[in-house]
Amino acid sequence: MAQPASEMHDHTDVAARVERRWGFVMLGLMVLLVAMTIYTGLHAAMMPPSRVETIDPTTLHLSGEFAEANLGSALQPDGSVVVRLIGQQYSFTPQCIVVPAGTPITFRATSADVIHGMLITGTNINSMVEPGFISTFKTTFDAPGDHLMPCHEFCGTGHEGMWANVRVVDKNAFTQLTDHARRATCDL
Ligand code: CUA
Repeated sequence: MAQPASEMHDHTDVAARVERRWGFVMLGLMVLLVAMTIYTGLHAAMMPPSRVETIDPTTLHLSGEFAEANLGSALQPDGSVVVRLIGQQYSFTPQCIVVPAGTPITFRATSADVIHGMLITGTNINSMVEPGFISTFKTTFDAPGDHLMPCHEFCGTGHEGMWANVRVVDKNAFTQLTDHARRATCDL
């Protein structure tokens, strides 16, 4: 049955109104997502994928940032700590990472062979560790304690045996460690 002309006109108006409303909702969502990307980039150092740091995985141990003497936790002049580590089949170097509580920590990790993963239990750190690229992430541990850091990316037959420890100690204990050595690991 044909509808009266006036009623059809109403429906067209309603459709246009609803479409416009959803258009604004979508626009709002896009603005929100872009704002979140900018905010996390500036405040949480979560960079959009366009930020890529590369490194030659075949010469890691020879020289540069990831040479063996440079691995572990290093106290920075501003009081923060940078931890450098390498993943390789089937271990992390250093095997045990020591960091102070209540201090901004920057992890910088790369792989010497295949793709590995690292996650630190009880934190939001969860990243792939890829050959040729440097994974960077920042966190602050609130309290001393031990965290497991398993590889969570299948990397070969020894994958399930690949893990490290992260030991969070109080600030004074960490300062004592770094008094003796430029880089701290649990063995020192
Ligand atoms: Cu390395 Cu799984």
